[in-house]
Amino acid sequence: MARMMVVALVVLAVVVGGARAQLREGFYEQSCPRAEQIVKHYVQQHIPHAPSVAATLLRTHFHDCFVRGCDASVLLNATGGNEAEKDAAPNQTLRGFAFIDRVKALVEAECPGVVSCADILALAARDSVVVIGGPSWPVPTGRRDGTVSIKQEALDQIPAPTMNFTQLLQSFHNKSLQLADLVWLSGAHTIGIAHCDSFTERLYNFTGRGGPGDADPSLDPLYAANLRRTKCKTATDNTTIVEMDPGSFLTFDLSYYRGVLKRRGLFQSDAALITDAAAKADILSVVNAPPEVFFQVFARSMVRMGNIQVKTGYEGEIRKHCALVN
Ligand code: HEM
Repeated sequence: MARMMVVALVVLAVVVGGARAQLREGFYEQSCPRAEQIVKHYVQQHIPHAPSVAATLLRTHFHDCFVRGCDASVLLNATGGNEAEKDAAPNQTLRGFAFIDRVKALVEAECPGVVSCADILALAARDSVVVIGGPSWPVPTGRRDGTVSIKQEALDQIPAPTMNFTQLLQSFHNKSLQLADLVWLSGAHTIGIAHCDSFTERLYNFTGRGGPGDADPSLDPLYAANLRRTKCKTATDNTTIVEMDPGSFLTFDLSYYRGVLKRRGLFQSDAALITDAAAKADILSVVNAPPEVFFQVFARSMVRMGNIQVKTGYEGEIRKHCALVN
């Protein structure tokens, strides 16, 4: 009898444990059937008037998943003198917090305490990319919200624009993502903007000598001169913004990769993608194919990113307000 109890407990633990690690599409079908529709409807109403928000939502989802998994820890405010992920430099240029708060309020009005902020962020990122004409991807749901957010973890785990290929690949491997994920997810830089200080050393001070002669030799010199003349006019400019994929920064297309191949990616991390033979071959293969091929591989990698260390089952909580632990 005792042996049967032990076996039953082990089976239960395996079943529960297995279920805990799993997201599934339509997780809220019974508990909040309109949840996904509410997110999509809000996005469809508002993103056409503010298309640049799509980029920040996509980036916020990425920054969320890379620190403590996709658990909305990036949305939490600092508490009692403890600085949160939000306070870390790479997150200070995120712009979509109020947008997520508004979606969350609508979903809470429909089903209080049911739908996580982590799922709302994942859904809103996908839906807004679709609205601007980009790829769609499945967003299995059931993520739970974390209760911890620590500035230093964001500084340590979000890859920096100064990283070389080896460092980027290590950063992605640390999150169980592979070389292909690095190459395709970097394609998100086909939309959105960057502030000059994310890349000014490449224009003015690459080796520490300083001056316009000290530009990064892996950046097209004509493009660098143009950026110095028309955009980042001083080495200390931290307010001017630059389109990462000039001419089509609101359009999800192949021109980011075309720019990288012409040595016009803004960051060292963009330029790094063609320093690895396998990554460069991947890029060459998509730029010569219809955009749908890029959309497909991007979508596959987004699903993998959205799965990083998710909390499910009884882990974490469903926050009432995305910036605050309950
Ligand atoms: C591979 C490593 C990556 C690095 C080093 C990196 C770095 C950066 C930096 C420095 C910016 C500019 C921030 C600013 O100055 O305002 C930026 C913008 C952006 N990143 Fe990345 N990123 C990486 C990967 C990704 C991934 C995986 C995604 C999403 C799947 C992503 C999506 C974006 C988007 C959409 C923007 C534009 C944001 C806006 O318009 O506000 N990035 N990234």
